[in-house]
Amino acid sequence: MKQIVAIDGPSGAGKSTLARELAKRLGYQHLDTGAMYRAVAVAARRAGVGLDDSRGLNRLCKNIEIRFEHSSGGNRVLLNGEDVSRIIRTPEMSSASSAVSAVSEVRLHMVRLQRKLGRGGGVVAEGRDIGTVVFPDTRAKFYLDASVEERARRRWLELKKKGMAEPFDRVLADIEKRDRDDSTRVDSPLRRAEDAIYVDSTSMGPEEVLNLICRVVKDLEGGDENN
Ligand code: DC
Repeated sequence: MKQIVAIDGPSGAGKSTLARELAKRLGYQHLDTGAMYRAVAVAARRAGVGLDDSRGLNRLCKNIEIRFEHSSGGNRVLLNGEDVSRIIRTPEMSSASSAVSAVSEVRLHMVRLQRKLGRGGGVVAEGRDIGTVVFPDTRAKFYLDASVEERARRRWLELKKKGMAEPFDRVLADIEKRDRDDSTRVDSPLRRAEDAIYVDSTSMGPEEVLNLICRVVKDLEGGDENN
């Protein structure tokens, strides 16, 4: 039976690449929940709503539409029909999304939408609270981690490739701050679900991580069919 695969972990652990490739291999949809908080941040900036203004953000969330368009070329994130896939990845939106994601009203809207998109299974959902809050009952639950230096190095390379080069120290400081913010916020902080499989990818290649997780999910798919 098709599963809901939950992948949580800190920034830069490789969740996005893993989730995208895993979804491709399994024939599942990729649900990038971080992109949703990033889209809210873009909408808030444009509407001049403060990043900690819970009433303003609540109103904003009720009036925006966030959609994904899946194609072989990758996922596109649409905010009110506009493709914001690129702008959501800027360092400014990275920190703005961290701020809006700490607001409970925003989380309520996003979690509701995520559950709707994941209903029925056949999704690989990645984020910070997928295994703890969004889909706590799923059995395919993973926590992907790596040392903070390694995560900063990967993020630095990724930005450079996209032509958005930043000094390494700034990337590292930014990741450390996001780790702190994501794991100390009151509502749904980043933490490993007790029943999540812990994967430390510091010295593993992406293919190795992918093979490992793919095997576990396939076992779960097959196990369900034998029951
Ligand atoms: O995974 P990402 O870097 O694209 O996430 C952007 C921000 O959104 C990040 O600061 C953490 C937050 N986030 C969250 O709080 N819950 C999620 N399920 C996904 C992301």
